Amino acid sequence: MEFSGGTLGSRKPARVRGKLPVSGPLPLPLGSQLGPWQLEAAVGKGGQAAVYLARHRKIDRVAAIKVPLDGRDERLVREARALGKLRHPAIVQVEDLIQEPRPYLVMEFLAGGNLADLVRQHRNGVPEEQVLEVAEAVLRALDCAHRKGIVHRDLKPENVLRDAQGAWKVGDFGLSGGAVSELANSLSSADGGVGTPLYVAPEQARPELLQGSKLDGRADLFSYGKLLYHMLTGQSPSTIRPLAQIRPRLHWLWERLIFGLVEEDRYKRPATADRVLDALGTIRRELNQGRVSVELGPTRHFFPRRKSDEGSREGERFRRWLRLCIVPAVLFVIGAATGWRAFTAIGGLLIIASGIYIAWD
Ligand SMILES: Nc1ncnc2c1ncn2[C@@H]1O[C@H](COP(=O)(O)OP(=O)(O)O)[C@@H](O)[C@H]1O
Ligand SMILES: [Mg+2]
Repeated sequence: MEFSGGTLGSRKPARVRGKLPVSGPLPLPLGSQLGPWQLEAAVGKGGQAAVYLARHRKIDRVAAIKVPLDGRDERLVREARALGKLRHPAIVQVEDLIQEPRPYLVMEFLAGGNLADLVRQHRNGVPEEQVLEVAEAVLRALDCAHRKGIVHRDLKPENVLRDAQGAWKVGDFGLSGGAVSELANSLSSADGGVGTPLYVAPEQARPELLQGSKLDGRADLFSYGKLLYHMLTGQSPSTIRPLAQIRPRLHWLWERLIFGLVEEDRYKRPATADRVLDALGTIRRELNQGRVSVELGPTRHFFPRRKSDEGSREGERFRRWLRLCIVPAVLFVIGAATGWRAFTAIGGLLIIASGIYIAWD
């Protein structure tokens, strides 16, 4: 990794070889000292923070330090807490959170740029073999986070990073612990704080679609589908067009996979990340064999459901019905126990009405 421009102590951002220079003002000038760390170069900037290459003055070790832009401190602390819970080879490793008095996140330094850089280098789409590598790494990272109950919520090319050896890792968990409404609000906010809405799942952008239930990993799987489309076609995922029209030599299973992931209705998407890993395994085998296999049939066979899958529409409906029935059921029981027929009748009617309402909805 080589750096030029941006000498120590200058306010001018350094230029990292092969990477666009970081534009706009930086929250801290180069050369600043943060505890034992000295900021040497600016390596990235998003809507929330700037990331610097820093060097430990005593042990000559390098790290990436994320410094929040004004007013974004809380998000950085949240990110540190989420990352602190996650240890996985495909997730950026956090080392420390320094608060003196503002928070700074110390992380492993990833010298290979981000996925947006890679897509820019391949205007007509990234080679399939390389897409598979990124796709598998990102999916394993999501699987790990989802199993810990953490939804990333901001998966996009700028947040997928590469280390010096070429391994891909997911970073920027700053939105993962926020309220569901936060991204929706920031998407419509004037400062565009969270960046592009292109990748965001419908139920995340419009929380009312969740009807009171929790956002889950399927929101990340939607973004992941958009990410795959962007990598494979080199085109913006604002609309998803049939891949055969854009890159006809691509294996047809990619299209099957992507269309399954970007379903507007989360119940129609694969239930979990490991289900998508199975599908990627199929694609890898197909590519290795270098031929097109027999038709796999409808999407549901590509992402087979397992009994252990959580979040089926029926299960969620049943839980909503139970919640609605608590008060009528109490009325019903009191009525039955005391002989107050009016209570029994009202409770019974309400139970039936809520059943009809849930089935109708
Ligand atoms: N650990 C890291 N090592 C090297 N570069 C990084 C690292 N973390 C982030 N970056 C770079 O900085 C950019 C902004 O970081 P990010 O965490 O996404 O900030 P934001 O929350 O503002 O979006 C990333 O797109 C990436 O290019
Ligand atoms: Mg980011």
